[in-house]
Amino acid sequence: MAQDKPAVERMEKIVSLCKRRGFIFQSGEIYGGLNGFWDYGPLGTELKRNLKDFWWRRMVRERDDVVGMDGSILMNRQIWVASGHEETFSDPMVDCRVCKSRLRADQLEEKDGRKQCSVCGSFDLTEARAFNLMFKTYVGATEDETAITYLRPETAQAIFVQFKNILEVSRKKLPFGIAQVGKAFRNEINPRNFTFRSREFEQMELEYFCRPEQGLDLLEYWLNERLKFYADIGISRELLHVHKIPAEESAHYSKGTYDIEFEFPFGIQELEGVAYRTDYDLTQHQKASGKSLEYFDEESKQRFIPHVVEPSAGVDRTTLALICAGFDEEQVTDEKGKSETRTVLRFHPRMAPIKCGVFPLLKNNERLVRQAREIVDLLRSHMMVFYDESGAIGRRYRRQDEAGTPFGVTVDFDTIGENGPANAGTVTIRDRDSMKQQRIGIDEIKAFLIEKIS
Ligand code: GAP
Repeated sequence: MAQDKPAVERMEKIVSLCKRRGFIFQSGEIYGGLNGFWDYGPLGTELKRNLKDFWWRRMVRERDDVVGMDGSILMNRQIWVASGHEETFSDPMVDCRVCKSRLRADQLEEKDGRKQCSVCGSFDLTEARAFNLMFKTYVGATEDETAITYLRPETAQAIFVQFKNILEVSRKKLPFGIAQVGKAFRNEINPRNFTFRSREFEQMELEYFCRPEQGLDLLEYWLNERLKFYADIGISRELLHVHKIPAEESAHYSKGTYDIEFEFPFGIQELEGVAYRTDYDLTQHQKASGKSLEYFDEESKQRFIPHVVEPSAGVDRTTLALICAGFDEEQVTDEKGKSETRTVLRFHPRMAPIKCGVFPLLKNNERLVRQAREIVDLLRSHMMVFYDESGAIGRRYRRQDEAGTPFGVTVDFDTIGENGPANAGTVTIRDRDSMKQQRIGIDEIKAFLIEKIS
């Protein structure tokens, strides 16, 4: 779909900021990169880590009914046969006979009922054929049929195949869930929109096992829980859309799927799927492995295969959504009365890569520097802080605005008592969004910040 100019420009600015400030780089950039692969720099890594940690906190630590696991990326090939991925995990692909591009057939625009090449505009395209998205590899020294397996295209299957072990060790009763965060790989035909569609990405998945009669209610429950999660990381409800997938478009085993979508500058696109997958996955693995994956209900003395509801979110997509939602430019007047554009990432303090900048007013005053360093030491075991003494204080604030740092602490001459005793032992703390400053005691800074970021 064609994008309007402001949206294209906004996305270009976001991509450029991500590189300039060290959120996201092309993978192995000095060698020209690799299409569909990205590296996260210092700020991006912190942002992503904050997101994954908060997901884990909400989905696992704060609940009695969910436990975690961390499965391997390469697994027995039979898992992918049983799950249906080896046979059907594919996208329709066409080749353009004119410019030789390989394209995803279902993403091409049509003119007069004919699909058009998105690169050169030609209509001379091959018939669509299925292209399996799994990366194939060989385990061990021989590269033959028996050594084949795949890099996992989703984290979910590791959960299904460990269902019995985890049920036994955790001694949970239905309904209960198993959560996992980890890498997944898909050989996407057309990676695009920055990190949105990558070939290597991370997922945060929960498989929530239940009785068949609970499935539909739990689908609604998890949709709402997940919407609350997005509000709690600072993505406003207005930027989200809930799309109920029509029955004819969902997987044959699904009894209901919602996509949670976000308004990216390049369009409204999926962030997360919440799907009621019935007992399909466990049934497939029970059949293929010959091992019982049934649950024994002690009250009714019945055995059955649990059903499952799956909220499955993308780490990289949500990270990109946080950046897009937070990105803002505004006209401000600097201390000399000059108008300038302030670029700011308005991250929720919980998600912000750096929580607090710490600045001595002057770098050549030993007492100011020593006091600022002491504040850094006071905070750094609790949160990510950044010490900066170079340049005018206004410039230092701007640099932190661009990094999305919600608070800035400045040590000035009042702090060290040079203007009298009234404000000695206090600092200014600046709020990124309002740019307002207030004075607080050095002994209050830690509690003030912890309350805002937790
Ligand atoms: N286990 C279910 C599953 O994997 P999915 O809708 O294929 O469902 C879940 O993937 C989430 O993983 C998506 O909503 C998206 O956030 C993320 N995801 C999938 N493919 C991706 C890709 N190529 N690049 C980045 N994220 C991706």
